[in-house]
Amino acid sequence: MLFSLNVDHVAFLRNARMEVNPDPVTYALMAEQYGVDGIVVHLREDRRHINERDLRLMREMLTTKLDLEMAATDEIIKIAIDVQPELATIVPEKRLELTTEGGINVIDNINLLRTTIERLHEAEVPVSLFIEPDIAQIDAASEIDSDFIEIHTGNFANALSEDDMFEELERIRQASKHAKKLGLGVNAGHGLNYNNMKHFIAIEDIDEVSIGQSVVARSVFVGLEKAVKEMIALIRLRKGF
Ligand code: PXP
Repeated sequence: MLFSLNVDHVAFLRNARMEVNPDPVTYALMAEQYGVDGIVVHLREDRRHINERDLRLMREMLTTKLDLEMAATDEIIKIAIDVQPELATIVPEKRLELTTEGGINVIDNINLLRTTIERLHEAEVPVSLFIEPDIAQIDAASEIDSDFIEIHTGNFANALSEDDMFEELERIRQASKHAKKLGLGVNAGHGLNYNNMKHFIAIEDIDEVSIGQSVVARSVFVGLEKAVKEMIALIRLRKGF
């Protein structure tokens, strides 16, 4: 299971004072040195954290891979086609949310998403859809030729009881297995942290986790190298790694 680090929160901190520090590009480059397998950024329509300068510099300088989280809007699709990330992950985007609140409804937005995937594929950009662990949503993602899905793990991470957590984990297990059978790549993310990773690694069919807040927050206390290496150590506890 690979580990991609989302660096949006570093840009949030920089933007809080319209400052140049902490620079998310430098942070991403250092994270690569400490062993992450890729970098994730979400270029939001309101540019509240990552901006185009960050994105273009990362495109030039990263040596692992760049996953661009994005809304399916014309402006951002054009930027993605120009920047050529290794993966474009389509997420729902609401201006008033603090962070992405859940998966995109593929069934309700099938025509928009089909066209978006076609446009990105024409430019040879592979596409992932951020969705709930739901079989019908996965079937729809496969039908419109998505390359990957990213399973929303927020309900697992925020479960209020152990029973609810294990129930959600089972949904994710079934969903990821189903997606693999359809030939989809399977990523997962949202709310994954140093506590819940020990349960999450039990799921066999996840290719990659996308983690941001917990690792960036920990790096404030222990430094980026330790924060990244601690997460990698947890992921490596997975059976058969
Ligand atoms: N995956 C997606 C699609 C997201 O929107 C986010 C949040 O930016 C993450 C993963 C990472 O979530 P977290 O910051 O809670 O680790």
